[in-house]
Amino acid sequence: MMAETGPLRVACIGCGSRAQTYTTLAAKRPDRFQIVAGADPVAARVEKVRRISGRADFRCFADGAELLAAGLAPDVVLVATQDNDHHGHCVGALRACSHVLLEKPIATRVADVLEIERLARESGRRVMVCFVLRFAAFYRKVRQIVQSGALGDLVSIQANEGVMPWHQAHSFVRGHWAVTGTSSPMIISKCCHDMDIVHWLAGRRCRRVASFGSLDVFRRERAPAGAPARCTDGCPAADGCAFNALRYTTDMRAGWLPMVYDRAAEAGTDEIVAWLRTSPWGRCVYRCDNDAVDRQVLALEFEGGLTGTFTMTAFESGRHLEIYGTRGVLKGGETYRKHFGAHLVFFPHEGPPVRYSVQSADGGYELHGGGDAGLVDALYHEMTCPPGTPLEAGIDATVHSHMIGFAAEESRTSGRIVDIEAMYRRDAAAS
Ligand SMILES: NC(=O)c1ccc[n+]([C@@H]2O[C@H](COP(=O)([O-])OP(=O)(O)OC[C@H]3O[C@@H](n4cnc5c(N)ncnc54)[C@H](O)[C@@H]3O)[C@@H](O)[C@H]2O)c1
Repeated sequence: MMAETGPLRVACIGCGSRAQTYTTLAAKRPDRFQIVAGADPVAARVEKVRRISGRADFRCFADGAELLAAGLAPDVVLVATQDNDHHGHCVGALRACSHVLLEKPIATRVADVLEIERLARESGRRVMVCFVLRFAAFYRKVRQIVQSGALGDLVSIQANEGVMPWHQAHSFVRGHWAVTGTSSPMIISKCCHDMDIVHWLAGRRCRRVASFGSLDVFRRERAPAGAPARCTDGCPAADGCAFNALRYTTDMRAGWLPMVYDRAAEAGTDEIVAWLRTSPWGRCVYRCDNDAVDRQVLALEFEGGLTGTFTMTAFESGRHLEIYGTRGVLKGGETYRKHFGAHLVFFPHEGPPVRYSVQSADGGYELHGGGDAGLVDALYHEMTCPPGTPLEAGIDATVHSHMIGFAAEESRTSGRIVDIEAMYRRDAAAS
């Protein structure tokens, strides 16, 4: 059980890209965190986390269930497996009496999200969801301005997420979240961050959602003439193709390869090309098995009449948002930073604009805006604060935004406007 003071003992289920990011940050604070164990079927990834931990007594496991059965009683279990595995590993960790730092999404089905919420409540264990944007300097500033009342009454929120074409191809065409049946729909897998931010800023529940969207670009019929199944097989369109997988050996190597290839740091070009010949990331983006959408829009109605819109597109880079109030409009995000030199601009309906720039602890607005570091910083407080203290990104505060996402997907696929409370009741009764 958790000590009153002193470092938290943290065990990782899933030692992939996210786990390595969080444990690297946590290992910088040995006064707060001890990384005591890791589980992953890929031994090289457990070994990476073991090295990050710097601990001689670090325990290695090949599976999350083995780790939970080993009687380690960690204070916190980091669940950083893939989307479909979150529910099983989180439930296991709660039953083993640990608190949980749970990667988003909470789970991939409404009933599973609600079960985790119920188990956390009944067991008195804490579940903190990795909604890193809540801890990013940019969004903290936006919330502070909204809560200051400077905008007057909120009238409408407009949010956009530009996934970026290469990111779409890497993650949602070739990668882990391409096939929604084995992961989750785009609005959950990627945009649950945005649903969470919009809900967090609105500060009230969403009542109804309508959504449209489709997969239109990354389809077989869009493949250039003569394109083979793999970019390594000599594609006639290779030179002009933005998605040529051979870019993993050149300009896309540093940023993207380490997320999916364990030997990215050591490998030479020949080894990477050999890997691309069989790996999902070597496939032609027009000839994959993907069904994740490449564009989606939502229209949202919140309590009190506040309205919102959200656009996800593969063909823009970064997030931006506009918040309309009775006293003024707040606009900000990646587009503003790039083109206007300020992260945020507040335009009062009367008077001159006010510009804001934010500084994140790790210096990177683009990389979750310091949110990864902010989340790890907050983790200690969230797990040690007195019982009953509301958690910043706790399960109670984050379930509703998942419901907005599930409702949006239901609307997109059914063509109906979805009433969120009715969906809760229906799915809770069915679970
Ligand atoms: N918060 C964020 O901003 C953010 C960003 C990216 C990804 N994510 C989420 O984080 C999660 C992990 O993503 P990732 O990019 O690190 O993926 P990843 O594939 O790099 O890591 C997942 C790991 O889980 C391991 N695993 C599979 N079965 C296991 C088992 N039974 N026991 C233990 N480990 C097992 C896999 O081998 C893999 O190493 C996903 O759910 C993803 O949606 C969150």
